[in-house]
Amino acid sequence: MNKIKDKLNRPIKDLRISVMDTCNYRCPYCMPADKFDENYQFLKKEERLGFLEIEKLVKIFANFGVNKIRLTGGEPLLRRNLDRLIKYLKNIEGIDDIALTTNGQLLQKQLPKLIDAGLDRINISLDTIDEDLYYQMSGNRGQLQVVLDAIDAASASSLKSVKLNCVVQKGVNDHQILPLLERYQDTNVVVRFIEFMDVGTKNDWQKSKVIDFKEIIKIIESKWQIEPLSANYIGEVAERYRYKNHAGEIGFISSISKPFCQTCSRARISADGKLYTCLFAHTEHDLKKLIRSSNNDKELEATIQNIWQNRDDRYSEIRHELTGNKDKIEMYVIGG
Ligand code: GTP
Ligand code: 5AD
Ligand code: SF4
Ligand code: SF4
Repeated sequence: MNKIKDKLNRPIKDLRISVMDTCNYRCPYCMPADKFDENYQFLKKEERLGFLEIEKLVKIFANFGVNKIRLTGGEPLLRRNLDRLIKYLKNIEGIDDIALTTNGQLLQKQLPKLIDAGLDRINISLDTIDEDLYYQMSGNRGQLQVVLDAIDAASASSLKSVKLNCVVQKGVNDHQILPLLERYQDTNVVVRFIEFMDVGTKNDWQKSKVIDFKEIIKIIESKWQIEPLSANYIGEVAERYRYKNHAGEIGFISSISKPFCQTCSRARISADGKLYTCLFAHTEHDLKKLIRSSNNDKELEATIQNIWQNRDDRYSEIRHELTGNKDKIEMYVIGG
């Protein structure tokens, strides 16, 4: 193993791979339906990395220190035979954790074979448990009950963790914080509240729509007492809390009010094989071109090493200093 560090002395540990750029939802904060309509050109099959190409990349990244893989989208469960990819990746030396981030609509049927293939953990997006609002927030596509059933199935399965991601937007779903917690209190399902972030350029982000971590805590404390827990590992994105008088864990992902760039060891690969060193990156590195143009793995390895060693991203820490940066990668391309 040849562990590498970036310019800010951060190792690379966590590789997030988007396996599909399309999605069966059109959440307004990610893929607004008016901009992602039937004329929108998503990737063609041959433009996406194949499983063997992904496997090749993961072997290289594992050698540089990556031990966690997260499969994302768009919606990763739209990718055929995803279980096969999980099996390949699980066998790679050094990879000890494989997780998936999904909207959950297609999950229940696929869950057993994903787990059989070696999936360790799952994060499911759930912004509300109000049926009409859910439908609306998915761009008139998602069926809430189907997702709730999938969450129950995941919770009862052998997965090591099941977390729910709730992006909180002022005036949209902030009234859902308490109902969401109430539903999953005293279960093994962790509810996490995410500050609405200024990812990409198409989601009409405004600071006034953000409800920060402190406000969310205040809302929760109007009903229950909670207390902080220590992090599971260095660089954990969510701050963990527990109830004083109930079982169950709550998480806060506060990239706007409490940036966590200093320990960021995450790299992202899009479905078409571009490497991004930050969620807010405005430059990309085309790995697919290299994989397909040369049989020389050494060149690919050296390129990846060089990119990481030159990385100095810390967007969330400096976003207030930046003005008019219009050129950020979209969320659906790198899956968050
Ligand atoms: P685990 O800690 O392994 O469970 O994963 P995670 O929390 O990183 O995964 P998930 O895909 O569920 O991400 C949850 C939210 O955190 C999403 O909204 C992500 O966009 C956000 N997030 C994850 N990593 C980063 C990051 O490096 N920077 C920022 N700003 N946000 C991130
Ligand atoms: N801000 C914060 N989180 C977001 N997600 C998508 N767009 C945003 C945004 N603008 C979340 C999704 C999903 C996760 C991968 O990223 O809800 O749970
Ligand atoms: Fe799809 Fe997730 Fe984006 Fe919603 S947030 S459109 S579910 S990729
Ligand atoms: Fe990492 Fe960029 Fe997120 Fe900071 S903003 S934590 S550098 S991905």
